[in-house]
Amino acid sequence: MTNHEIKINFHEYDSIDELREADKDLCLESVKALKNSHSPYSKFRVGVAMRLQSGKVIHASNQENVAYPSGLCAERVALFYWGANHPDDPIESMAVTAHTDEFKLAKPVTSCGACLQVLAEYEKKQQSAIKMLLYCQHGPVWVATGIESFLPFLFFEDRLTS
Ligand code: THU
Repeated sequence: MTNHEIKINFHEYDSIDELREADKDLCLESVKALKNSHSPYSKFRVGVAMRLQSGKVIHASNQENVAYPSGLCAERVALFYWGANHPDDPIESMAVTAHTDEFKLAKPVTSCGACLQVLAEYEKKQQSAIKMLLYCQHGPVWVATGIESFLPFLFFEDRLTS
């Protein structure tokens, strides 16, 4: 038996004021994206702002549905929009924030496994890692780059071939 240990690394900042200007701006753009969240069922709004290499910023938010599983997380709304419209303009960074009127969020939201799997696919496709800025408006910002920082084991297409 061999024991393996995997370490992941992320940076925590007390405030977005500690970030470089472009990253701080992207966090503030993710707050703007909360406005169009369609989340009448969970009442949990998630906003995403994604900066592309050209400088273009894409906004997205979670979109729920009365048939619950038909809804989609904000991250995948952003990533699939990018894949459908701007696949040749690489994603440099992605800021994610959340808000609910029900309670005060003290920690950043961390993306679900399905969103991370989609993120992994597009990182591979564009051949560059994406900087994730997980922004809690009343708490810290967590910053990490590349899917391996979030999901060290995942399903890649090389597993489909011998
Ligand atoms: N949600 C996201 O949009 N992104 C996340 O990272 C976590 C969860 C959404 C899905 C659902 O609309 C609501 O938040 C509650 O789970």
